[in-house]
Amino acid sequence: MLYNIARPVLFSLDAETAHEFTLASLSLAGRIFPRGKPAPSEPVEVMGLSFPNRIGLAAGLDKNGEAIDGLALMGFGFIEIGTVTPRPQPGNPRPRMFRLPEVRGIINRMGFNNHGVDVLVANVKAARFKGILGINIGKNFDTPMEDAASDYLACLDKVYPYASYVTVNISSPNTKNLRQLQGESELDDLLGKLKAAQTRLADAHGRYVPLTLKIAPDLEPEQVINIADALRRHRIDGVIATNTTIARDKVQGVRYGEQQGGLSGAPVFEASTGVVRQLKQALGGELPIIAAGGVLDGRGARAKLDAGADLVQLYSGLIYRGPTLVGECVRATA
Ligand SMILES: Cc1cc2nc3c(=O)[nH]c(=O)nc-3n(C[C@H](O)[C@H](O)[C@H](O)COP(=O)(O)O)c2cc1C
Repeated sequence: MLYNIARPVLFSLDAETAHEFTLASLSLAGRIFPRGKPAPSEPVEVMGLSFPNRIGLAAGLDKNGEAIDGLALMGFGFIEIGTVTPRPQPGNPRPRMFRLPEVRGIINRMGFNNHGVDVLVANVKAARFKGILGINIGKNFDTPMEDAASDYLACLDKVYPYASYVTVNISSPNTKNLRQLQGESELDDLLGKLKAAQTRLADAHGRYVPLTLKIAPDLEPEQVINIADALRRHRIDGVIATNTTIARDKVQGVRYGEQQGGLSGAPVFEASTGVVRQLKQALGGELPIIAAGGVLDGRGARAKLDAGADLVQLYSGLIYRGPTLVGECVRATA
């Protein structure tokens, strides 16, 4: 209700300014009311964790974990923060975030702007949130691709004690060549190293923290099959489908449609859901699937489960629909 009033004001601002204002407001709200509760539902067991409902926040909205307690007020069953990189980095020059309201889409080329993993960890420690927290990790833009694994391993080491699960993001279109890590030999190498580190860390900390891999919607069917095989082979715990798309067929002639970056929201729904369906077929229920991409209402969330997902994440839908979207999706997937 309140969002109906706030939205025209936010939409009158540049997209990133509106984003910063919203995050600062959430951070403040979280300090005043630090005890957010998940929207009620039947809990589900996924990756050995008990999720109070199936609806989570997707990565990228709170890259540094600055507003965890405020976001918890929205009723999510889980919250994913990041993408974080080992060292702080400014990301791409502004403007780098664009609303496409005619199609309920967003294009962003943020480029992993974040304060670095140490700041994120400090923020997580300061938060009072006790729910399921995913931490999404990436590589610095200036780390050579052949050293990418060392960035992921450095982040994994630092976030491991504070995460409920850790997401390995190899699918942002805004870090040069990052998506190459989805290739067969690159992925095999990366997942092998991450699995070994996870085993070592589980031993050291006396707690097993699941690993998920976040993939792109722009994959050929045989690439999805190869990824599914690699996930199984390396005993990765889950997969997130999907990140934003580089395709522009759904936004031809739309204002900002030609901007560079990753497209999210309604225009990516079909492609993302298609990847969920392919993964379900390739994995046959062996590995849980977390769906993200274009969920704008309860029906969209339900459609992700029907395609084979176990959990659903939201980002762009929140910009168009506000916090009521969370409860609506929880009810549709209960
Ligand atoms: C402005 C913006 C920034 C994002 N940043 C990240 C990020 O840092 N890491 C990541 O894994 N995904 C990021 N994403 C992708 C979302 O997590 C999600 O996978 C994608 O937007 C599809 O879901 P949606 O259509 O509900 O937005 C970002 C999306 C947007 C719109």
